[in-house]
Amino acid sequence: MKVDINFEAKNSSNYSVYIDALTSLNLSGKVAIITNPKVSGLHLKSLLEKITADELYIITIADGESYKNQESIDLILENLFNHKFNRGSTLIAFGGGVIGDMTGFVASIYQRGIDFIQVPTTLLSQVDASVGGKTGINNKFGKNLIGAFHQPQAVYIQTDFLKSLPSREFGAGVAEIVKMAVTFDLEFFEWLEEADLRKISDLQLSIKKSVETKAWVVAQDEKEKGLRAVLNYGHTFAHVVENLTDYKKYLHGEAVSIGICMANDLAVKLDLLSSSQSQRIKNILASYDLPTTYEIKDVNAFYNHFFLDKKADDTKIKFILAKGLGDHQMRDDIDKEIVLSVLKEYSV
Ligand code: GLY
Repeated sequence: MKVDINFEAKNSSNYSVYIDALTSLNLSGKVAIITNPKVSGLHLKSLLEKITADELYIITIADGESYKNQESIDLILENLFNHKFNRGSTLIAFGGGVIGDMTGFVASIYQRGIDFIQVPTTLLSQVDASVGGKTGINNKFGKNLIGAFHQPQAVYIQTDFLKSLPSREFGAGVAEIVKMAVTFDLEFFEWLEEADLRKISDLQLSIKKSVETKAWVVAQDEKEKGLRAVLNYGHTFAHVVENLTDYKKYLHGEAVSIGICMANDLAVKLDLLSSSQSQRIKNILASYDLPTTYEIKDVNAFYNHFFLDKKADDTKIKFILAKGLGDHQMRDDIDKEIVLSVLKEYSV
């Protein structure tokens, strides 16, 4: 299976996302696979069977979001300089979103930009993060505040890699699949209600549908000037939940699941979504053991956290809301009292 990304802007390079189609990849020049010890221990051997290059290097970075920083970038760069990588060299991101974001960022800055290929190994990175060219790192001011839009040459999604994925991480990816369906595609949503993504054929189809949706969005709005922001559905609330729990209690996709439920409660209050539609969304999330609620200790503190997001406007909060099933509305004009009334439903 293959999904093409054909950008509307003429100066962007098109590429393809291949699903379960990686048989052999023959690259010229110097190539470095950037990975972490966990992924390399489980899957590097099988990837190496499929890749050839003139010179092939493996660069291993410590696993986890806390290593998505400048130090790891320096470590990768140092390796590339030591091995005399040049403008014709290629990087391969082999891991989840952290590895993908860091590899893409290094590719965007090394000698003013070299090629990279995404081989995502988590469901979340397969259906969302690996497609669309967002790259970057965190710093003390916040997450993903340093980075670049740098599109990969290709994305190879192999569902085989998901066999070793812990079930919580699988669920976290499902939350992003639900996001795509609710905001853009009623037919996909209705299909998801009947599907079982633990079955390989349903999983492959859901990945394809999600990637098609993402490709359609990104092709129109590569740099997130408008439509692409819809992919942040659930994320306005999720970022606060992640922040208030020190990024420890929930995986990102789990926080997104909670955020989707909160955003839906807001959409119900604004008559954009019916209670039964909101319940149908919750039912899918719950069927993959995703959290759908959260105990808010201090409603005002939660509200004020919306403004701590370093990318947020100082005065307005942008909410992405479901408009029925399969459509969306972006709003930055919602009265504080209405938002607080939603938050109060979660307060203990
Ligand atoms: N993960 C949302 C985006 O790529 O825009």
